[in-house]
Amino acid sequence: MNINPLKGVHDLINDEAFDWDSVIDMMKKVFNAFGYSYIQVPTIEMASLYAREGDSSDVVRKEMYQFHDKGNRLISLRPEFTAGIIRAIISNKLYVNDKPLKYFYYGPCFRYERPQAGRYREFNQIGVEFIDEPSLYNDVEVIRLAYILPLAFGIKARIKLNYLPAKESRENYIQALKEYFQEHLDKMCPDCHERYERNALRILDCKVLSCQEIVKGAPKISDYLSKEEREDFRFAQELLKELNVNFYLDDNLVRGLDYYSGLVFEITLDSEEGESLGSIGGGGHYDKLVSELGGPSSLEGVGFSYGLERFVSLARLYSFSHPDYHRNRPLIVYAPLCLDAVRDVFDLSMKTRNKYLFRSAQFYRPISLKSALRFANKVHAPFIVLIGEDELNENVVTFKNLLTGRQEQINKDDYLNVINNVIADGLMEAEKEGKVNLRKEVR
Ligand code: HAM
Repeated sequence: MNINPLKGVHDLINDEAFDWDSVIDMMKKVFNAFGYSYIQVPTIEMASLYAREGDSSDVVRKEMYQFHDKGNRLISLRPEFTAGIIRAIISNKLYVNDKPLKYFYYGPCFRYERPQAGRYREFNQIGVEFIDEPSLYNDVEVIRLAYILPLAFGIKARIKLNYLPAKESRENYIQALKEYFQEHLDKMCPDCHERYERNALRILDCKVLSCQEIVKGAPKISDYLSKEEREDFRFAQELLKELNVNFYLDDNLVRGLDYYSGLVFEITLDSEEGESLGSIGGGGHYDKLVSELGGPSSLEGVGFSYGLERFVSLARLYSFSHPDYHRNRPLIVYAPLCLDAVRDVFDLSMKTRNKYLFRSAQFYRPISLKSALRFANKVHAPFIVLIGEDELNENVVTFKNLLTGRQEQINKDDYLNVINNVIADGLMEAEKEGKVNLRKEVR
């Protein structure tokens, strides 16, 4: 029996699973602060939701997982979230009462790509969509949000920015591109031949070096923007500068999906040596997607998605490998030093957990003081509660602050009421003595 995993999929286990959870938790807090609510949409949709008339993107044309279900409907596994979220907004008429609509989401997506480092066939995205009557401020707010997410994990990313002209100017531009590329087609890759026929704009995105050389001489998109578009682009840049967003312009940024017009961006990372490590996320403004799918034409959208696999691996490198960051670190270790103390440890740790949701670790068997301390040290627990013969006789527990080395006795009957303050005081004392960085602890 072959039960090997398929190519391009992966299990999420151990530390990576823990870090994954931490990244999502932190991002949720940021999304909430920006006024986004959670939305969940199906993994399967009618294929026609993604494969719309005239679509020229590889994501939709070549990489979709599609199948006929038992009712002979053509179904797709979602290759991305945006279309599904707009579909949900329209199916549920969410635009009738609430506007603007601001949603965040995360979950698996599927693209039949050639698997390689950081590229999977089943991967996860996390992102937002902001649907409203168009405003440049919405777009800038979204770019700012995309920019600060990696910063929250110590990852210094940059925004690659471009502006795609609306339909009419775009057609003029594509015409100019076709005229230019026609002379060079014989030296270009087979994919670019196809792009030339379907949508010459996509040639700008070709990764083949010889094609990139030819692209360098192509007409520039910025020369084809209308007066208003040029003004919008300039104003957006001004706002981004005011917000301290580190961005740079790239005339050849066209994005891999077809629905964009206006501001488009990717979140990129450079190595220490300044070499580009590629995109960890991308997004932009889409003007017609809502109306194309049957929603009001007054509504447009802007959003971005990060690839979670790529984001988490960077967070692990930049933030979670910091010596102050201790995965799975319990706040308190409970140690019974004799058999009679086991029952008290059980009671205290259960009750504290119920009341405060502290993360704790406990032994339900007698353990020597030395082993208990060695364990607490190994898991980087800041506090240990010890109960031995003496403590039982006096109806107290010994509470030891392992960061400062100080210890005190707490009456067992008071324990549940005072423990919260004892911990807070203990952490503050340790911070004053430079033994702990509370900001990092909270993360
Ligand atoms: P996208 O650029 O196609 O945009 O994908 C966003 C991110 O998903 C990429 O930057 C990358 O990190 C990740 N990603 C894509 N394909 C793979 C793969 N095969 N393996 C691992 N990670 C991958 C979108 O999907 C748009 N829906 C973003 C958007 C939202 N635009 C407006 N709103």
